[in-house]
Amino acid sequence: MASTHTASVLVASNRGPVSYALDETGRLAAKRGGGGLVSGLSAIGPDADAVWVCSALGDGDREAVRRTGGALDPADTGGQRVRMLDIDPQVHTDAYNGIANSVLWFVHHMLYQTPLEPAFGAEFRRQWAAYETYNRAFAEALALEAGEGAAVLIQDYHLTLAPRMLRGLRPDLRIGHFSHTPWAPPEYFRVLPDDIAAQVLGGILGADRAAFLTQRWADAFTDCCHAVLGPGIPSGTRIGVHGLGADADFLRQRAHQPDVDERMAVLRKQIGSAPDGSRRRTIVRVDRTELSKNIVRGLLAYEELLETRPQWRERVVHIAFAYPSRQDLAVYRRYTEEVQRVAAEINSRYGTPGWTPVELHVKDDFARSLAAYRLADVALVNPIRDGMNLVAKEVPVVSDEGCALVLSREAGAFEELSEDAVAVNPYDIGGMAAALHEALSMGPGERAERTKRLAAQATALPPARWFLDQLAALGG
Ligand code: G6P
Repeated sequence: MASTHTASVLVASNRGPVSYALDETGRLAAKRGGGGLVSGLSAIGPDADAVWVCSALGDGDREAVRRTGGALDPADTGGQRVRMLDIDPQVHTDAYNGIANSVLWFVHHMLYQTPLEPAFGAEFRRQWAAYETYNRAFAEALALEAGEGAAVLIQDYHLTLAPRMLRGLRPDLRIGHFSHTPWAPPEYFRVLPDDIAAQVLGGILGADRAAFLTQRWADAFTDCCHAVLGPGIPSGTRIGVHGLGADADFLRQRAHQPDVDERMAVLRKQIGSAPDGSRRRTIVRVDRTELSKNIVRGLLAYEELLETRPQWRERVVHIAFAYPSRQDLAVYRRYTEEVQRVAAEINSRYGTPGWTPVELHVKDDFARSLAAYRLADVALVNPIRDGMNLVAKEVPVVSDEGCALVLSREAGAFEELSEDAVAVNPYDIGGMAAALHEALSMGPGERAERTKRLAAQATALPPARWFLDQLAALGG
């Protein structure tokens, strides 16, 4: 790879802002992603020489790298300079699926089902070596692209070692690391072998600044450093908190496009009305089918609502969108099946010819998600643990007439939204059923008032500001 040494701002993440699909005729179709980093990076203005370093994730991406040498065509990226790395597929699989998704994600979301898991043996050590290789590939690419004194923002648990590696290659750079996940408390973090725990923390401490979505996760990181490395943050790394908010302008504009209106009409038909002709209530959830999202317990809580408060039968529909995620991992595939099984069971137990209690949809459709946000009476956001959870922040912004928010106290968003949400313990099925009842029973005036306050809080730090604040905090 030729050295450019020109970029003044760099972002590094496993998944980039664009991905490619290869069709049978050999044509590549680019698909652009959204999210906070994409709008954040576009906010720095045309003068800054910015580059986004990411990994090729599939055959289409690899082909794009082969054709472009890794410097993607700006026509595919909305003008953004993107350097896509073609890391050996086996190395990527071991680092991404083996370590990032099956170890670090599980640790921070506290997902292990002891007593059988985790068991860190030879296979883990082999995958860890791949994780090091993968991190080194990023550090080397960043070192080549970065201009003198550039700011480098490294994202997430995929890239915990890269900050220290990059520091070794380029001491002149200003390096930030941002964790989009929760951070595990020391008692849980220390399931990792001691040398690995020390490498993860030491890797991030190679940055000038380690930042998190909430104070709770930042404190947990500091606690882990004390527990594993001894008192004090040894390298003098600064700790920061930036609570990413919803992008109100984008969401409000996108939610009123004709394709969203069309989907609202379809959903309204599916919801139907109660036998006495009154309007049926709607409980909405939108998630990736991700273990931490707690979809199965959410369905069980809905079932308990129907069982213990029969007045809601035929008068409410639960719209659950559970979009495929990480299907390479067997545990995610099994979880997806379990979600489908429980939803079908509720429908067969309680459904009537004119009423389907759960409308479960698994095909990803952003316009339909927005349509559901607009018409929801209640939004159910009940993760076991979550770095932030943007659904909790997006629903109040888009809601047409106000939506009661049932929110897990283990979601990062809870720190900001607790006053106007109905709080739940994500393990307590009975408690969640009671919360759903409370939310469904909330009067329209109170619901609208709360939604207004939730929306104001949810948009306090829009993605562009979130990103620029991080850059500013790195100084320069
Ligand atoms: C969620 C998390 C991010 C993470 C991403 C990875 O959005 O909040 O912290 O980087 O998932 O998802 P992927 O589909 O790339 O594994």
